[in-house]
Amino acid sequence: MKSRYIALKNGNEYEKINEASRAIRKGDLVLFPTETVYGIGANALDELAVSKIFKAKGRNSDNPLIVHISDTSMLEKLVTNVGHIEKILMEKFWPGPLTIIFNKKDVVPNNVSANLDTVGIRMPSNPIALELIARANVPIAAPSANISGKPSGTIVEDIIEELDGKVDYIIDAGMTDIGVESTVVRVINDEVHILRPGKITKEDIEKIGIKTIVEKHILEEIKDNETVMSPGMKYRHYAPNTKCVLVYSENEENLINKINEIIKDQENCLIMCKSKNLIRYNAKNKIEMGNSLEEISKNIFTILRKVDSYNVDLVVIEGVEKTELGLAIMNRLIRACEHNYIEC
Ligand code: TXA
Ligand code: MG
Repeated sequence: MKSRYIALKNGNEYEKINEASRAIRKGDLVLFPTETVYGIGANALDELAVSKIFKAKGRNSDNPLIVHISDTSMLEKLVTNVGHIEKILMEKFWPGPLTIIFNKKDVVPNNVSANLDTVGIRMPSNPIALELIARANVPIAAPSANISGKPSGTIVEDIIEELDGKVDYIIDAGMTDIGVESTVVRVINDEVHILRPGKITKEDIEKIGIKTIVEKHILEEIKDNETVMSPGMKYRHYAPNTKCVLVYSENEENLINKINEIIKDQENCLIMCKSKNLIRYNAKNKIEMGNSLEEISKNIFTILRKVDSYNVDLVVIEGVEKTELGLAIMNRLIRACEHNYIEC
């Protein structure tokens, strides 16, 4: 059966959300927009409903879900204690693309947290997401909308084929604003550890006077014997079937020269680069990613989903800076390339 489709591209016809909110309360799945990427939502307090998310995505049960709330009063029911650093983060960055890991209460089903004692919570800023949660009047567990391993959905057109019929409702609100998933953080000894980089950056958190540490797995490969603080980091993610290589340099001329050197002997390749650098490459296939980090972040998943259709032997991707939002982009790109990475 096909999913029921709710078109919300033209602003604020929020009464259309009521039906989807009722579906959440009933234990059904709703695909909905957030400011980062689309999510596949279910009532976070309903273990059976949550189990349907894992089935729809083909997601491993040891990979926990993020719980979305519309109001801080929902938080108290889900977590045992809110520390003072967490309170500062919530005040400064919620609603918004920041997921905070807390110790969970027993009401949070074990499949949401993948049997950990903790749960990741965020209050999205997308008004449709907030209305959906508020009208359902329950917290919503939601991973990104994609089959496990694929790039997260930022437009419904990209994911309709793989998810139609697997969810009960699809709320289509056009392209999401940010394009990469939320920053995931955990506070340990009053320091913030970034487990997954996103739009809320290390620099943003340090600006408010909190020491912030970027976990090394964000840009480095995980070795077999290593444990990771965020289970999602273990899995193959974002990678097209075509072989990809990510090239990075602090110096843009070096970067362009290196890429030209790589493609010299590659007749059938595709380049993903900043729009302004398109003219610098003499290749048959090129995709422009945008110029600013915001543009690149917004476009990156849609582009990664397209590259296989070019039928090339190699995709060469221009790296961006590893600071601010660039860190989140590099984290997704390095994984898309399965750590096939050249620094020059
Ligand atoms: O922007 C987002 O965060 C999107 C939208 C829909 O909100 N959601 C999203 O969910 O990206 P998902 O499930 O695709 O990614 C959640 C990440 C995974 O890497 C997971 O391992 C990590 O967050 N995570 C969730 N709960 C955790 C926990 N208790 N401890 C450590 N990591 C956790
Ligand atoms: Mg995901």
